[in-house]
Amino acid sequence: MIADVVVDLQYGDCGKGKIAHALCRENKYTHVIRYNGGCNAGHTIYHNGEKFVTHHIPCGVFFGVVSIIGPGCVVHVDTFLKEIQQLEEAGIPAKKLVRVASNAHLITDFHRVEDGKDENIGTTKRGNGPAYRDKYARKGVRALQDKRLQPYIISMYHELYENEEHKEIRILFEGAQGFGLDVDWGDYPYVTSSHCTVGSALLNGVPASAIRDVWGVAKIYETYVGAKSFEGTDEIFEDIRELGQEYGATTGRPRQINWLDFDMLKMAARINGCTKVVFNKMDILDAINKWCLYEGPNLYEFKSQDDIEMWLSGKLELEVNEDMEIIFSGDKEYI
Ligand code: IMP
Ligand code: MG
Repeated sequence: MIADVVVDLQYGDCGKGKIAHALCRENKYTHVIRYNGGCNAGHTIYHNGEKFVTHHIPCGVFFGVVSIIGPGCVVHVDTFLKEIQQLEEAGIPAKKLVRVASNAHLITDFHRVEDGKDENIGTTKRGNGPAYRDKYARKGVRALQDKRLQPYIISMYHELYENEEHKEIRILFEGAQGFGLDVDWGDYPYVTSSHCTVGSALLNGVPASAIRDVWGVAKIYETYVGAKSFEGTDEIFEDIRELGQEYGATTGRPRQINWLDFDMLKMAARINGCTKVVFNKMDILDAINKWCLYEGPNLYEFKSQDDIEMWLSGKLELEVNEDMEIIFSGDKEYI
């Protein structure tokens, strides 16, 4: 068994969907597994030039690969079924390919109503927090118990270890949210209710020894949506928001913008053991022609894209992993 993992090194919305989609195009995976979160996530994917936004369903469906909502996830059945239908209508055979782990948990309508009243955290109001709370309080409901999910339910153990159709298992783990929103490593309580690191992928039923590559995904600037104050003071952030279309894929809220925080990026790359790091949205800073980042309290401004690329690559290789592959990407669909 081998597994590649896609993790977000910032606050979500760094382009994990794009990286997972591109990796599926290049590799022969047998399974794509979403390992955390629920329909709070919004993955924007460009497939053959056409735009899709998914919340629950992993990107394997675009390439004919079995796509599983893993036991680490929480599922809202109506949202899930609607997404299946939308993909089917676009000609993607989602019914045939999508599976839900029997031991994933349900987001109920009660969870949504409760989360809808949140004013402190700035949640996506999708019922995520209450669903995980009930799971850990042992009051939750597992996916297996929902009648409408029956056609999609699988045993994760059987699928990964006892399904004779698969001689070798090659998994792509597609995460949701990001390091800065992780319930343990993020800025608590301004976090989501699940784990967003590589450790979270392992909780879905694979041994640590299966992990091959860990793809850390970042943006060349940062965005955050939620209740805390995050945006920096530079007027150029208005331009970045418009050019980068920095509005939530799930809620449409404007994302707050700031320059990249190198210390957090380094911490996330270390803790996740990244073998690859991709910086997305290079095209946006290229268009505004300004390149800055923070290291600690210091704001550095660079003269060109080449300069910031050299600085970041040098630092990550020196301080995190000298064999790390570092990629700078400015395309919507390709890495
Ligand atoms: P929740 O996950 O809906 O409980 O929201 C908790 C925090 O995580 C809020 O600040 C949300 O805006 C943020 N959040 C949740 N999911 C995402 C996502 O997919 N992208 C970006 N932020 C997210
Ligand atoms: Mg998103």
